[in-house]
Amino acid sequence: MDRYGVFGNPIGHSKSPQIHRLFAEQTGQSLSYEPLLAPLEDFAGFARRFFVDGRGANVTVPFKEEAWRLADQLTERARRAGAVNTLHKLDDGTLLGDNTDGLGLVRDLLDNAGVVLQGKRVLLLGAGGAVRGVLEPLLAQRPGALVIANRTLAKAERLAAEFAELGTVSASAFEQLEGRFDVIVNGTSASLAGELPPLADALIEAGESFCYDMMYGAEPTPFCAWAAARGATVRDGLGMLVEQAAAAFELWRGVRPESAPVLAELRHQLKG
Ligand SMILES: NC(=O)c1ccc[n+]([C@@H]2O[C@H](COP(=O)([O-])OP(=O)(O)OC[C@H]3O[C@@H](n4cnc5c(N)ncnc54)[C@H](OP(=O)(O)O)[C@@H]3O)[C@@H](O)[C@H]2O)c1
Repeated sequence: MDRYGVFGNPIGHSKSPQIHRLFAEQTGQSLSYEPLLAPLEDFAGFARRFFVDGRGANVTVPFKEEAWRLADQLTERARRAGAVNTLHKLDDGTLLGDNTDGLGLVRDLLDNAGVVLQGKRVLLLGAGGAVRGVLEPLLAQRPGALVIANRTLAKAERLAAEFAELGTVSASAFEQLEGRFDVIVNGTSASLAGELPPLADALIEAGESFCYDMMYGAEPTPFCAWAAARGATVRDGLGMLVEQAAAAFELWRGVRPESAPVLAELRHQLKG
């Protein structure tokens, strides 16, 4: 049976084993997928031992940058992201590093939520690893404007400069943001601490704006609650999680699983 897993530390909370088990059942693939608690001080050694017989792995906090350095080859999107969330052992034994987080977000927005990005004003909050990972796929949708706003402005400015060749992208402090946005994506980790970046109500057009939090939970995140109270349509990041997993599964197995029933099952469990 082909062996897969997810590297992280901690890892007990990960939903990836369940997601991939459901994908395997649905597509009739015979594989095992396990949570792998990698040591903070020797990720590379741990990963190499796994890949003696392992076929592929997902990578989560805090190892995505180390996985990027470990990979023998990178996809273009992973190279730009500076982080790898999917490792795939090729037939010659070398490791291909990919990053499916951005594709996961875009598929959840476009395919599952029916959001159009082309020509729209898009605001991306945060300038950490998650935002870096989604910039290329978001810009590939050719938004009319993409603004990155971050608490530490210099980080947003660096990202905007780095990705400028891919589209109309600029940086701003939260307090300097102007105008309304069609789509606002929260890629900060503020929701983890129950916090909300300082955002003006005027950024949202009631009944028109679509607001997405990469975080998810049983209850609406502070960002989703703020946006919903101002009349925006809101969605959390559970679909992004399932879609990034579906893209990884497809890379490994050559079969694209159906994400909708898996997302419905996870949502049901989260609420329960
Ligand atoms: N759904 C999914 O599949 C998925 C996938 C990947 C990530 N995520 C989520 O995305 C979020 C960000 O992850 P990451 O890896 O990018 O983290 P990260 O690299 O640590 O970056 C954190 C970002 O959040 C900002 N921030 C933190 N606390 C803040 C606050 N109180 N107010 C305003 N800004 C704040 C930071 O600003 P400074 O630069 O000023 O510090 C930075 O831009 C996490 O919640 C993670 O769970 C979800």
